[in-house]
Order: sequence, then structure tokens, then C-alpha cells
Amino acid sequence: MKHLAVFASGTGTNFVAIAKACQSGQLDARVALMVCDCPGAPVIDRAAEMGIESFVFSPKDYLTKADFEAVIVKLLDEKKIDLVCLAGYMRIVGGTLLRAYEGKIINIHPSLLPAFKGAHAVEDAVAYGVKVYGITIHWVNDQLDGGKIIAQRAFPYEGSDPAEVHRIGQKIEHELYVQTIKELLCER
Ligand code: GAR
Repeated sequence: MKHLAVFASGTGTNFVAIAKACQSGQLDARVALMVCDCPGAPVIDRAAEMGIESFVFSPKDYLTKADFEAVIVKLLDEKKIDLVCLAGYMRIVGGTLLRAYEGKIINIHPSLLPAFKGAHAVEDAVAYGVKVYGITIHWVNDQLDGGKIIAQRAFPYEGSDPAEVHRIGQKIEHELYVQTIKELLCER
């Protein structure tokens, strides 16, 4: 059975979708660790409720990104993590983690990359008047929402309510992320 780590900073609906898929047997994997850089984020309670171990840290407690990433790498090594899934982890991954887990880190983003990178992708797309939205899953590199694309799904929306786009998009995210992880694990 493969070991996953899920990194999140906020609500954690993607984390829950992945963890449930593991627990139901849809994925032949186990979420061995949830990593969160925001003490107090709702995802921490979700992990506890599902019996999944967490590492919660505050970046300001470390001098540099390399310092906290070294701690994370040690934990990932201990848990023998096969794939790291960023799910709303609102931080650019640094060299320490990238080098240690090269080719093993993926991210989900709520736009059709390379359009609308960043933390406000949906709001930016609505402001731009976009008519076709989408979700992207990609390999992670040292660029914000950069890296080769693995999977994308588009959906039409002609309105102007970002909350509605988030609602539609998140349903797609949960399904697409589980499906993509399944395919990647089969290739390993
Ligand atoms: C997701 O919509 C994900 O695509 C987005 O954060 C949300 C987290 O939701 N990620 C980014 O914007 C990355 N740049 P969740 O905490 O409910 O899974």
C-alpha cells in the first residue's frame, strides 16, 4: 500500500476527499501524514476526526524555509511517503523539499493553468469575465503554480459569482484529484 502526505493551509475539503477515498478502498493508499502551515486551520480538526496524524507548524517559528522544510522532509522520510499532494497549501515549495521529493509532489489549482496563477485564481478569472473555468493538477516546481500539467478539467460558467464558481469547481476538484492520484500510483 502506498503512503500519501497531504499538505493544506485551510478548510481541507480536498484533504477529506483524498482521505475518504483511501479509507473506502477507492485508493490503494493511506494518508500517512497531513502537513499544515496554519495553526488553527479547520483541516487540522478534520485530520484528527479521521484519525490521521498531522504535523502543524508556524513558519514564523523557523529562521528560514529551509529550516522548516528540513523538518518536513525528515517526517516524510520516516513515513516512507510515495506521493506528496498539495491541497490548498498556500506556500511556494522551496529547494529543500523539492530536491528531496523531486518528481513526487503534485498540486491542485482552481484555474486552467497557465492562466490565473496565485491565491485568488477564481476571483481573478471572474473579474476578467472568463466563460470557461477549470481545474488543473500539475507537478510542482519552484514557480508559483508552475510545473508540467498532469490533468485538467474545464467547465462553463457565464455568471459573475466567485462563490458559485468555487462550489462547482470544488466538486470537480475532489473527483479529479482522487482519479489523478489513482492513476499516478498505478504508474509507480
Ligand atoms: C482548492 O480550491 C485548491 O484548488 C486551491 O485552494 C483550495 C483549497 O480548498 N489551491 C490554490 O489556490 C493553489 N494555488 P480545500 O482546503 O477545501 O481543499
